[in-house]
Amino acid sequence: MKAQKLEALKRSMLEDIHLTESDLGQSATQLVFGYGDPQAQLVMIGEAPGKDEDLQGRPFVGRAGQLLKQLLALIQLKIEDIWLTNLVKYRPPSNRDPSDSEKNDHAPYLEKELDIIKPKLILTLGRHAGAYFKPDLKLSQEHGQAYKLKRFKTSSEVDSKILFAPLYHPAAGLYNPQLVSIMQTDFLKLKPLII
Ligand code: URA
Repeated sequence: MKAQKLEALKRSMLEDIHLTESDLGQSATQLVFGYGDPQAQLVMIGEAPGKDEDLQGRPFVGRAGQLLKQLLALIQLKIEDIWLTNLVKYRPPSNRDPSDSEKNDHAPYLEKELDIIKPKLILTLGRHAGAYFKPDLKLSQEHGQAYKLKRFKTSSEVDSKILFAPLYHPAAGLYNPQLVSIMQTDFLKLKPLII
């Protein structure tokens, strides 16, 4: 049921000419929709696809994804056990930051994705996805801290049972290896919340 709803959501993104005819929609190779287990209680959200993801059509298949895989293995999880997605689902050219208007264009689809999956825990990767749920986020101080997510932004549904924790983006660990042990500590700290 959830899988069919997600398939329909993906189709609706592909049929949304506002997205497909946008600069990102025109420059990207393909839409990179979420991937993993539609029944998962844990959703992880990155920023936007990079080059490898754009070519393969799946989130986190490149070098950042390799590190994410290792971090998940630390808490006995595989990518296939979770739902993995991005705030923006077309690759920004040269991996530039997605603009506010691009984030706003894609956010309603992320909301619908979350409404279908109904996760218990949302872990965001990097400041863009983190700030979407907590606009005043200071990632260097708040990484690994769990918050109650009061409500989805565009939905009227109040769902205080969902927990959200912002994490560093695995790509940050590739550029700054010192961050990797901090990321490992965050994953281990959050493990008890992931059932
Ligand atoms: N970085 C992201 O934020 N998402 C991906 O899918 C890959 C790299």
